[in-house]
Amino acid sequence: MEITLGIDNHATECVSWQAGDGIYAIQCPGYLPGPGRLPGWGYVVSYLVLGTDRALLVDTGFGISDLKRYVEALTHLPLTVVNTHVHPDHSGGNAQFDEVFVGEHETGGADGDEGVLFYQVPGQRDACAAVKAGGHYRFRFLRDGEAIDLGGRILRVVEIPGHTPGSIALFDENTGLLLSGDAILKRVFYGAGVPLRVYRAALCKAKALPIRDILSAHWPEPLGADFIDKMLRLLDAFDPETAERAEWSVPGMERRDLRMCFFGRDFDDPDFVALSFFMDQLEQITQ
Ligand SMILES: [Fe+2]
Repeated sequence: MEITLGIDNHATECVSWQAGDGIYAIQCPGYLPGPGRLPGWGYVVSYLVLGTDRALLVDTGFGISDLKRYVEALTHLPLTVVNTHVHPDHSGGNAQFDEVFVGEHETGGADGDEGVLFYQVPGQRDACAAVKAGGHYRFRFLRDGEAIDLGGRILRVVEIPGHTPGSIALFDENTGLLLSGDAILKRVFYGAGVPLRVYRAALCKAKALPIRDILSAHWPEPLGADFIDKMLRLLDAFDPETAERAEWSVPGMERRDLRMCFFGRDFDDPDFVALSFFMDQLEQITQ
């Protein structure tokens, strides 16, 4: 499937490919708008990791298509479902499941009922009938460093606050692949007001793992194990004075002064890495 960045892919079904040994990448329908002069993302990618006893679904997309049915055609193993964070492109299909795990600092709550999200992305298509018909589900919480045992396969929780307060990545000890959600991405939207030094420390913690490659949520290609170094160099060079104005042009959402620091020419440049932040959070993030 050819996908144009910033344009709805108009897909109604998921598409998957092998992203690693026993790991499927699943491209879900939908897209993200902006921000900035660079086009939005055409890719919304969930991952399915197979153990011998259980399978792990990492993120549930926008819910535009029936992801549960799609996953059940790929595996008969019982499913554990995780959201790397609770934005609607990662949690939109949650209602199809009884229980969803998130990082313990993502919602600020104890294990409990749904009720901590969601803004809707304006202009995004509606959830499919199967999601709309889904029941109530519970969030369960994961701690930094906690192991998820799928049988013959351990995934380790790596908390990386910054994009959201409790974003997590998952490190697959079998393959050395880090499933990074939006915490490590070609263009990180830095929205939680977390000090950059906290984000930097979390990236260094992730970098200490024996990472072979990084699989993110909005890009179909692996980012490379050295991508964290690029992010660290970007953070070290962070200069709000030279940051580019990046319009937050999402209809129906509050207008805020968004800026973007980046290296590289544009999104297709293999060296491209960017971090966009709100100017009204500048004091918080630079403390
Ligand atoms: Fe996302």
